[in-house]
Amino acid sequence: MIKVSDLSFSYTEEKFIQDINFEVEKGEIFGFLGPSGAGKSTLQKILTGLLRNYEGNSVVDGVESKYYKRNFYENIGVDFEFPSLYEKLTGRENLKFFGSLYSKKLRNIDEMLKMVGLQNDGEKKVCDYSKGMKSRLNFIKALLHNPEILFLDEPTSGLDPNNSRDMKNIILEEKAKGKTIILTTHNMVDAAELCDRVAFIVDGRIKALDSPHNLIMSKGAVKIKYSYYDGIEKTRECLLKKTSEDYKLKELIEKNQILSIHSSEPTLSDIFMEVTGRVLQ
Ligand SMILES: Nc1ncnc2c1ncn2[C@@H]1O[C@H](COP(=O)(O)OP(=O)(O)OP(=O)(O)O)[C@@H](O)[C@H]1O
Ligand SMILES: [Mg+2]
Repeated sequence: MIKVSDLSFSYTEEKFIQDINFEVEKGEIFGFLGPSGAGKSTLQKILTGLLRNYEGNSVVDGVESKYYKRNFYENIGVDFEFPSLYEKLTGRENLKFFGSLYSKKLRNIDEMLKMVGLQNDGEKKVCDYSKGMKSRLNFIKALLHNPEILFLDEPTSGLDPNNSRDMKNIILEEKAKGKTIILTTHNMVDAAELCDRVAFIVDGRIKALDSPHNLIMSKGAVKIKYSYYDGIEKTRECLLKKTSEDYKLKELIEKNQILSIHSSEPTLSDIFMEVTGRVLQ
């Protein structure tokens, strides 16, 4: 669905986005993860045809992004980082207006409002919406024309845990329908839960790209923590990969003297820090 090769882009004379290569298959949730200013939104703007003076290739749904035609957006839904809504119109009027820009049959507006808990707010002006309400309206605006590809830039940012959970469920439902989703986030927990693969982006470059599981496992940092009795209860740790080298553990196993044993995996945040040397949040 998406193929990016040797992509580079600069806002100024200095190169910013550099050597970006990746492909996204139909039905995949692909994450852009990186600290503030890394270039995630810039990358999304290139892919969606908003920034056109790039080098290399960005092919989305078979179309080179910079040469898109009007119908490019019939199959693409974009939830921008900052809500782009008409403040003086109601929620429903906003959806009707933006929906009128597409030639496709739209999804049912009442159902969509209900899906994000705005069923009683459709007739309110957007200027009277809270930040989270605007985010939710902006999100369903991207889904309105039932696009095959969704670009979601920080969709859960600023949402309370319940709304965030609802939104993640909707994202997973879209995936189940075979939609292809690019999800930009700072949130490693969301990324690990939702994304099939993630790209770690720092300073305009991809520093790692794989499934969250493989990234976590590749570092071989899974530890085993075990306890045993030796006058008092004692605990020891060893790397899962090196259990055969832990003679104390071997001895305890042979004598059935282990009191407890747990494995602990590093989080995606730990791996991000290890790979990029940067903290995410
Ligand atoms: N229109 C612009 N002109 C010049 N520089 C820009 C422009 N838009 C973004 N930048 C710069 O490009 C860099 C990357 O911005 P971008 O918005 O892509 O980051 P991001 O990874 O999405 O960050 P965040 O997580 O804060 O949303 C920043 O240094 C920003 O100042
Ligand atoms: Mg951004």
